[in-house]
Amino acid sequence: MSLTPVTGSATSQKITPLTLLERKQAHQPITALTAYDYATARLADEAGIDFILVGDSLAMVVMGLESTLPVTVDEMLHHTRAARRAVRRAMLVVDMPFGSYHASLDQGVANAARFVKEGGAEAVKVEGGRPELIERIIAAEIPVVGHIGLTPQSVHRMGGYKVQGKTAAQYARLRKDARELEIAGASAIVLEGMPRELAAEITADLEIPTIGIGAGIDCDGQILVFHDLVNLTFAPPARFVRRYGDAAELFRNAITAYRDDVVERRYPSESESYHLPKGTADALEAAAVGFQTPRLRRKA
Ligand code: KIV
Repeated sequence: MSLTPVTGSATSQKITPLTLLERKQAHQPITALTAYDYATARLADEAGIDFILVGDSLAMVVMGLESTLPVTVDEMLHHTRAARRAVRRAMLVVDMPFGSYHASLDQGVANAARFVKEGGAEAVKVEGGRPELIERIIAAEIPVVGHIGLTPQSVHRMGGYKVQGKTAAQYARLRKDARELEIAGASAIVLEGMPRELAAEITADLEIPTIGIGAGIDCDGQILVFHDLVNLTFAPPARFVRRYGDAAELFRNAITAYRDDVVERRYPSESESYHLPKGTADALEAAAVGFQTPRLRRKA
């Protein structure tokens, strides 16, 4: 066991939808990051990230799938529970995966409730302009974060992962979607993959905060995918990704050094091994039950 359980209770600075709103009003940037397991969620929380998202991007960066579409509610719940055990201060948000809210409003509300009840999420995020669904989920006492622009669950409709809002029609549509999500009661809106000018205009239009990813500097906060941030994605990064660390290099070096040490019998050392108490070793030798120290046995 290498992980130390989190101790202590939630701090007085617990981040809630109200905190996010206050941040916007005070012009204080909101920090957001994805996390999908105990260790990374704990590090993000301890680093003071405000908004931790168990994103459906886990389908790609954790499960190695081609898109976010196949990930299921049960798989998302599994990761949400792991992150939940770590997060104390941040607001813990989970992505409703593709197919978990598309069949009907009732289906969306039921699945949102599962994320709160079984996963411990404090809010859910849904992609697209779906004000009616957002109203229904909020009526069930569950805060909702919207997500518009380049919405990965719409990859087939968009014809690929393309920046959205570049035509006048798309520009107007996204501004309208954002306003409708605010009226429906969304706590915040993620703006993904859109021109900076559009994100700035939406941010100025709304009272609720916007959290950008590939949407420029004018949003009220920024979010990145953890694996992009630390170079664990095995692919050339998108333009907006800034690498803050090289975990691939760190892990590769550590794994290679471990492998070499095992092959060369340099690992484990004496100090990394457990030993019989002297009394037991002496008793075994005296009883002549064939016991020899490991060192003698190897030489023989
Ligand atoms: O799933 C995810 O990681 C996301 C972020 C890109 C906002 O939705």
